[in-house]
Formats: sequence, C-alpha cells, structure tokens
Amino acid sequence: MEFVITIDGPAASGKSSVIRGLSKLFSIPWVSTGAFYRGLAYAAIELKIDLDDKEKLTELAMSDVWRVEMTPEKTLVWFKDTDVTEKIGHESVGNAASRISHYPEVRSSLLDHQRQCAFKDKGLVAEGRDCGTVVFPQAEVKVYLTASSEHRAQRRAQELGMDEKELVIQQKQRDQQDSTRKVAPLQIPKDALVVDTTQMTLN
Ligand code: DC
Repeated sequence: MEFVITIDGPAASGKSSVIRGLSKLFSIPWVSTGAFYRGLAYAAIELKIDLDDKEKLTELAMSDVWRVEMTPEKTLVWFKDTDVTEKIGHESVGNAASRISHYPEVRSSLLDHQRQCAFKDKGLVAEGRDCGTVVFPQAEVKVYLTASSEHRAQRRAQELGMDEKELVIQQKQRDQQDSTRKVAPLQIPKDALVVDTTQMTLN
C-alpha cells in the first residue's frame, strides 16, 4: 500500500505551507484536496450553474472542462485549458467551495480523483478537511493543524492583501459550515497528532 501523510485543519491553519515543506523533505508528491472543491466551484460560477443544484454540480464534477494537476510548487487548477490557480485562491471561491462541499453526491464524485493522487510507488502528502478521516483513512501519519482564528485571518489577510477583520468573519463562517456539515465534516481524526501553530514558525 502507498505511504500517505494527511494534514487536516481549518482554513489558513498553515496546511499548504507545511505540506510543501514535508513534500520537499521526503521527496513525496503533495496535493491540496481543497483545489478539487475550489476548482468545481469556480467552474460552476463560470458556467453559471446554481451552487444549490446538486445534480448539475455532480455532473460537472465528472466533466473534463476542469481538472486538477499536481506540481511540486502548487496544486494547479485548469478550466477550459486555462490555468485558473490564482483565481481560485480568492476567499469568495473558498466560500463557494465550502457551500458545494456539503452535498454527499458532490463529495463522492470527487473522492476517486483525490485517491488517485496517491501513486503506488511514490506515496502522497494530502491536505484538506477529511483526508485522514475519509479520503485516506489508512494513512500512515495523520496530523491535525490548527491556530487561533485571529492568527489564521492575519496570515491569510497578508497573503491575499485583504482586510483582516473582514477575513475573521468570513473564515469563521466557512469553518462553521465545514465542521457542522453532515458528510465528512472537518474533525480531528482519532489517530491524529494535533498541532496548534499559533505560536510556531513554519520550521
Ligand atoms: O482548503 P481550502 O481552503 O482550499 O478548501 C476550500 C473549501 O473546500 C473548504 O472550505 C471546504 C472544502 N473542502 C472540503 O470539504 N474537503 C476537503 N478535503 C478540502 C476542502
């Protein structure tokens, strides 16, 4: 079985930065599973599909009009052969991703694609909300990263050049949505190492 490390946690808890470092250190490919939800949400918005129309969303999840590509630096998202990775980074797309992610049909149609990121001989570091609980429950190492909501908003506000106060509100709303949904909510996998990064540097 392939070697998998999972990192789950709320928005802007440092998952992507940590995973990139781990991937370099161990020479293992990495993937941000949020890219699947963000990519689908972005495609839906572009195609003017209602974010509550779960049938159309499930159909779109299977379509090749958009796709995710793993690279050492970033998890890229392509829409109609255009790289839209920068665009899906916006908090508005994050919020739309969170909205569509509570549909079980949408989640299960994205699940196989996420699992296929783990190559047999190379292993994988995967980050998201349900990587250790649903996508890779058999993972060798599971980490749950967290940090205070103010600290997380501060980090993301710097990254996106946004107002911190506004971001605290938006992130709280997104975390609330992600942790209270019925299917695969954000939760600490029972065998995970919990790390609070509020007082930590990346190293
Ligand atoms: O990690 P992120 O900010 O890119 O994720 C965007 C949204 O996608 C997140 O708010 C909820 C959803 N998501 C999910 O439901 N399950 C995952 N494994 C990853 C992301």
